[in-house]
Amino acid sequence: MNKQVVVGVCHGPRCRDYGGLTLAEQLKYQGMAVEALDCQSLCTYSPIVRLHDRVIHRATDERVTGVVVGGGGCY
Ligand code: FES
Repeated sequence: MNKQVVVGVCHGPRCRDYGGLTLAEQLKYQGMAVEALDCQSLCTYSPIVRLHDRVIHRATDERVTGVVVGGGGCY
């Protein structure tokens, strides 16, 4: 059975300015389920992605994919 990954992408104003919406579309295109999050109060590090109990600062699709596939990567 293939378990789909659910990724939370901040859709707050700062993260939108820094590519959060585009990032959400890229992650959906890669087959991930994307949940739109309100501001996470981490605007300095935007865009913000939450994956399980982890927060990925200055997220890119490569960094998110690296965490999903490898379980590690930079935060
Ligand atoms: S707008 Fe994304 S953390 Fe504030």
